[in-house]
Amino acid sequence: MRVEPDPLTALRLQLEFGVDEAIVDAPIDRFAVAATPSPATVKNASSARRPAAPKAPGGESASAKSLADAAQDVPSLEAAIRGFEGCTLKRTATNTVFGDGDPMAGVMMIGEAPGADEDRLGKPFVGVSGQLLDRMLAAIGLDRTKVFITNMVYWRPPGNEKPSQLQIAQCLPFVLRLIALARPRLLVLVGGISAGTLLGREEGITRLRGRWYDFQPLDGGPPIPAMPTFHPAYLLRQPAQKRESWRDFLAIQDKLRQIG
Ligand code: URA
Repeated sequence: MRVEPDPLTALRLQLEFGVDEAIVDAPIDRFAVAATPSPATVKNASSARRPAAPKAPGGESASAKSLADAAQDVPSLEAAIRGFEGCTLKRTATNTVFGDGDPMAGVMMIGEAPGADEDRLGKPFVGVSGQLLDRMLAAIGLDRTKVFITNMVYWRPPGNEKPSQLQIAQCLPFVLRLIALARPRLLVLVGGISAGTLLGREEGITRLRGRWYDFQPLDGGPPIPAMPTFHPAYLLRQPAQKRESWRDFLAIQDKLRQIG
């Protein structure tokens, strides 16, 4: 006897598993697909999973690199990112989240990936963790007119998963080009994903944070001081760590005074 699950319980279970986005219009009966793999089903499945853009060695999207290199200023880079189809995350996202603030302000903060609020509004860090980030900035006399805030990937991972290594690699040429074009005086690497990726380090954020590192921009210009710090979403879960973040933000304020 087949027991039908209560639909509400099944829906709750899906939400708990992180399934909170509909990707195709009509549901697919996976039991039927497994039992009778009709040619039509196989064809639909393969067209639903378009291959990603070709990869360069190291997994990065070759076309992202050429588009990023061709952009000569931040607005043209933004246009290239908005038109880019080589990141798998774009297929399920509502909006491209490029950044917020002034790219030429001299302080660039790089987070992880847009969440649901960011995807809906098309701006980074606008949910609860963004509100905490705004308060931390205000505490050292900064706001979104004095910094530029962006992420390692420009589209929301479904179900608020962490972006995969491949998705990060697909967007990385744009992130690196953005840093080279905007040439900030300092970088704030918000969370373990941006710190580990951009500094090329294996350690977790707890070990990396609180010290200055030299970030070498792509164009071979002078190194940019980079401070890894805890992600505000982590601070919301672990408020006792705000004390360490406060130290990081005071060091950022100090560095800005020193470098003018
Ligand atoms: N977390 C991030 O890392 N980036 C955002 O834009 C929002 C939440």
